[in-house]
Amino acid sequence: MTPFPYNEIVLEHFRNPRNVGKMENPDGKATEGSPACGDMVAVYLKVNEENKVIEDIKFESYGCASNIATGSIITELAKGKTLEEAKKITWKEASEALGGLPALKAHCSVLAVEGLRSAVRDYEERHGLVTERVPTTLETLHKRLKHVMNPLCGLDVVRTDLVKSLTLEDGAVKVEIALPADHQFAAVVKEDIKDKIEPLWDIKDVVVEFVGE
Ligand code: FES
Repeated sequence: MTPFPYNEIVLEHFRNPRNVGKMENPDGKATEGSPACGDMVAVYLKVNEENKVIEDIKFESYGCASNIATGSIITELAKGKTLEEAKKITWKEASEALGGLPALKAHCSVLAVEGLRSAVRDYEERHGLVTERVPTTLETLHKRLKHVMNPLCGLDVVRTDLVKSLTLEDGAVKVEIALPADHQFAAVVKEDIKDKIEPLWDIKDVVVEFVGE
């Protein structure tokens, strides 16, 4: 017997994932990593500006079979829904739509749903739809950085000690990263940090400096 007996629905979505791939010029996007296993999922959205319906959605999975299957199912559940409706999709619904996941794999569906919610949030921030205008603090920034992956090992840049310093002054953010400026992943990390922080409503400038040897 296999240690994680997947049902037929899960296996079918794993073998033929729907809406898989990268989207060019998405209206909203997010990459989420799971603290439980270090796997990642990216979600991309195309949204109708008038009625806020998700017209297209794609995902990329860097995780296990459950991650791929839940990515597939949440994109099916979210397509055609409004942003408000999509935000309400729960990991339990995703897991039920898959006919159930082994208990040990619950975090995989949590990860996919978090990816969807963050992509919706990203859209809302970029389109001035976030109403609760809480001022950004260092803690907010720190949380955002926990969603920036360190491509060297697939964990976030905070947990892997890549963030050497973080300052915030009058809407200007400066992040120092312990990688050499000519490192092969420097540009990717910089882009990811800017992507995660720039949409915050009161942030005016984000500077990423590389201070590694
Ligand atoms: Fe990591 Fe499933 S084990 S997402």
